[in-house]
Amino acid sequence: MKQDLAKFMGTDVISIRDFTAEDILAILEYARKFENYKQPILQGRILATLFYEPSTRTKLSFESAMMSLGGSVLGFSEAGASSSAKGETVYDTAKMMDGYADVLVIRHPLEGAARRAAEAADIPVINGGDGANQHPTQTFLDLFTMLKTKGTLQDLHVGFLGDLKYGRTVHSLAEAMSHFRSHMYFVAPEMLRMPDHILAELREKNIPFMETERLYDVSAELDILYVTRIQRERFPDPLDYEKVKNVYILNEKLLEHVKTDLKVLHPLPRVNEIDTSLDKYPQAEYFQQSKNGVTVRKALLSLVLGVRQ
Ligand code: CP
Repeated sequence: MKQDLAKFMGTDVISIRDFTAEDILAILEYARKFENYKQPILQGRILATLFYEPSTRTKLSFESAMMSLGGSVLGFSEAGASSSAKGETVYDTAKMMDGYADVLVIRHPLEGAARRAAEAADIPVINGGDGANQHPTQTFLDLFTMLKTKGTLQDLHVGFLGDLKYGRTVHSLAEAMSHFRSHMYFVAPEMLRMPDHILAELREKNIPFMETERLYDVSAELDILYVTRIQRERFPDPLDYEKVKNVYILNEKLLEHVKTDLKVLHPLPRVNEIDTSLDKYPQAEYFQQSKNGVTVRKALLSLVLGVRQ
């Protein structure tokens, strides 16, 4: 059934759980129209970027997307540069944005902060990452990359490697992939396993998955390998970080153990979990994936602002 894209006008993008499989496919199909598209369809519209945590890709790709479509951008890139340093709440800051902007993107270290901003603001609110919880626009661009490289999202064998406990990108992506009969392989040290609540949801939906600490147990099965950084900033105890920080370092030897058409994805930034020796191979899709972020975010801005091409 053809989706009515008009329904996304004014929508908050807080969690991938708020989108059905049909919604996701309709948004990805619409996003294809935005590859290399630069027309001023959002002229006169303003995007506010409220970033309480560091970001390169999410913040700058949203800004690039908005400017490519003729819109303008304002915002801050650290909490200390905003009145949050004086004690202002996320709720009040987001409410202010109704007077300053037409749409806002927020990144915040606390889970639930984006939902709180959406309760305050009348303009559409987009979650650019809230703590270890969700990063839905990253998920849309990850799915877009998979669809582009594999031609389908159905029945893919997807490996998730690295920090599966605190990694909001893997939480959002595993939930989204559960719509598409994926086989999932969770590869992580014991202390960074996928949270039980996500595994319980997958069991409930009869999604096949397995857990292991060793990539080579599963590497030959994979169509997609989604690598993540071990995130030092999320560890309550720095000694725990020291124990696992170098547990996976992929290099070109990986290619001896995988399907030739494997695609390696990574939300970036990387530290050392993918050696640069892998970058030159066609399996390395992570820089193109990051570029796809602009395409997908153009589509999302167009949809929530209700100005479509
Ligand atoms: N993938 C991602 O969220 O990157 P940034 O932290 O640089 O925004």
